[in-house]
Amino acid sequence: MITIALSKGRLFEDSIRILTDAGLDCSELEQPSRKLIFYTPDNRVRLVLVKPSDVPTYVEYGIADAGIVGKDMLMEEGRSLYEMLDLKYGWCRMVVAGFPEKKDTWITRAHTRVATKYPNIATNYFANRDKTVEIIKLNGSVELAPLTGLSDVIIDIVESGRTLKENGLVVLDEICSISARLVVNRISLKTKNSEIKGLIDNIQRILEDGEK
Ligand code: PRP
Repeated sequence: MITIALSKGRLFEDSIRILTDAGLDCSELEQPSRKLIFYTPDNRVRLVLVKPSDVPTYVEYGIADAGIVGKDMLMEEGRSLYEMLDLKYGWCRMVVAGFPEKKDTWITRAHTRVATKYPNIATNYFANRDKTVEIIKLNGSVELAPLTGLSDVIIDIVESGRTLKENGLVVLDEICSISARLVVNRISLKTKNSEIKGLIDNIQRILEDGEK
């Protein structure tokens, strides 16, 4: 049996779809439920539902042999694991955002306060810039920080752009593009190679078919 950690939230439905297309019977996960552990009817796969930021931890520690998680969480967590596939969904952008009038001045300001759910990504982004920044870790609704004066700018993900727009904020700089990734525990890749390789091959085939 292999265990796969799935991110709850924005990636969940597409993750179920790609695993179903790859041959896993995930029908139990489609029913409304508060359960956190599921088994496919053939008992070959256990699926655990995890907060996105915790998926890399479950995979690094080998509790899950594989996981599906956004690249943003992989960058932020910096865990020791193998990133095997770009799953080509869950697209969004990691950006610096703030008020439009800050567009030309925010980077030249001597001291900038940056609110973010991603303090490590923010630290790396500013690492080689001659600039003093104060990074303020938040856990959600990050757009509220510049609106209330808690920070000058934010570093966050933008998907549709609606949250920024409806709060009068704009993208000031693009950091990188984000999508869902399949990650694998380093030891599981050796000890459960045939099961994991079978899963990767099936998903790869679906991705290739999608490109045709
Ligand atoms: C994310 C992100 C933005 C928003 C972007 O928050 O932090 O706030 O989605 O999406 P959009 O560009 O489509 O508007 P999430 O919905 O995960 O909630 P949170 O603020 O509680 O973290």
